Amino acid sequence: MATAGRDLLLLRAYRGEPVERVPVWFMRQAGRCLPEYRQVRTRWSLLEICRTPALAAEVTLQPVRRLGVDGAILFSDIVVPLAASGIDLEIVPEVGPVISEPIRGERDLRRLRDFEPGRDAPYIGEAVRLAITELDVPLIGFAGGPFTLASYLIEGGPSKTHARTRAMMHSEPLLWRTLLERLADIAAASLRAQVTAGARAVQVFDSWAGALDPDSYRRHVLPATRRLFDSLADLGTPRVHFAVGTGELLELMAAAGSDVIGVDWHVTLDSARRRLGALPVQGNLDPAACLAPWPVLREQVDAVLNRGGGAGHVFNLGHGVLPETPPDTLKRVVEHVREHEGATRTPEPVGA
Ligand code: CP3
Repeated sequence: MATAGRDLLLLRAYRGEPVERVPVWFMRQAGRCLPEYRQVRTRWSLLEICRTPALAAEVTLQPVRRLGVDGAILFSDIVVPLAASGIDLEIVPEVGPVISEPIRGERDLRRLRDFEPGRDAPYIGEAVRLAITELDVPLIGFAGGPFTLASYLIEGGPSKTHARTRAMMHSEPLLWRTLLERLADIAAASLRAQVTAGARAVQVFDSWAGALDPDSYRRHVLPATRRLFDSLADLGTPRVHFAVGTGELLELMAAAGSDVIGVDWHVTLDSARRRLGALPVQGNLDPAACLAPWPVLREQVDAVLNRGGGAGHVFNLGHGVLPETPPDTLKRVVEHVREHEGATRTPEPVGA
């Protein structure tokens, strides 16, 4: 049984309320670096795990047991709702999602059907329901953001430049808008189903949105992302918005209407807080710092905590756990964040 405090710590921090200490969890904490996950993966593919509630729930719990983090993240993938909406795809180990017929024109859009989680992907809600029966910390639901999902669909797989995606955005704005609205609706439906099943916070990973300049983001992505967050407002569940390489986009991301901004490691948290006003932040240790010797890592963890300022900060990495990270290092980071003094300190009025 959890203490009442631990149960609510993450949610209180997401709401910007005072906390006894800064909560901590790690993006991509489930899977990736855990030996017990790799053990499960020797028998089942990633998508099989996602579609089998007992397995998805088990992998969701693994990092909570081993690392003592203050939140669990549902084990799934951002492309699971796409596969359930009629897109033929595979998740290739070490590569990522690969789409057999990428979306290149108007006609391809027909392959993206409406998404009704209860009908098309009942295993998502079932995994949430199973996981929360054994959790003493909140479960975070998640979905891919519209730009990132569009990029996989248009490129056909991972891309460093997202050039084809940006080209479609610039040259076929109507098709682009239709696609992004539909992706926002798919993500919203998935998140609503996760919350209905018991997720107590949600995070939108628009991981690759930092590929855009601010004007393009404002014109071509922000409306769909705002639609996504607006459609979840009635749930009252804290909504986190995360992307990488968004130094130039932070204020625009905030304008999309989430309750918390996930900050990647390119921006210092104190400057992010100044730019975001009272909005709570999550982040932002460089994931590669977890591969450094402990004294170096500790210094960087402290710098993130000090810049985060205590209240209104959830400690996390600036992007996902790297697969080669030793799990004991993550555990040590959790312990260190817990011991950090000054978490109750109310930060200087930000943006003043
Ligand atoms: O904590 C967790 O890891 C929870 C589950 C989770 C997965 N994917 C499972 C997964 C989450 C939160 C995701 C999100 C996700 N998936 C994102 C957004 C976060 C980010 O990293 O930016 C993106 C862009 C994807 C797409 C994706 N899926 C890629 C690029 C890859 C390959 C590279 C890799 O290792 O991340 C995947 C495969 C994938 N999804 C794995 C896992 C555990 C790893 C491979 C495997 O087990 O076969």
